[in-house]
Amino acid sequence: MPTLDILNQRPPARVYVAPGQTLLAAIQAAGLDWMHACGARGRCTTCRLNLLGGAEHLAPYTAAEVRFRTMGRLPDASRLACQAQLLPNTPSTAELCGTVPPEGRLPHLAYT
Ligand code: FES
Repeated sequence: MPTLDILNQRPPARVYVAPGQTLLAAIQAAGLDWMHACGARGRCTTCRLNLLGGAEHLAPYTAAEVRFRTMGRLPDASRLACQAQLLPNTPSTAELCGTVPPEGRLPHLAYT
């Protein structure tokens, strides 16, 4: 199954992502805590992931992401974990990786 590695979390976390699944859904299914202040409705940016690899396996930006990009609140190479969905035809060997930006870090977890 495709994987998403969260590189700056300690210990580093590996999440398996099913085709069609959002990154947040996969992260939660793996039992990891992840900031998502608006309840995954695309109304905040607290679930943001700095994507370092594998962007080509994600569906295009959603309307919510386009809105935040237009406002300058979603930098290039960043995706909202609650919006970014793995493409249905993603090969099982696909590897994505990224980091949690400072504003998305939870106080009870360790990051580098
Ligand atoms: S949880 Fe608010 S935009 Fe993703």
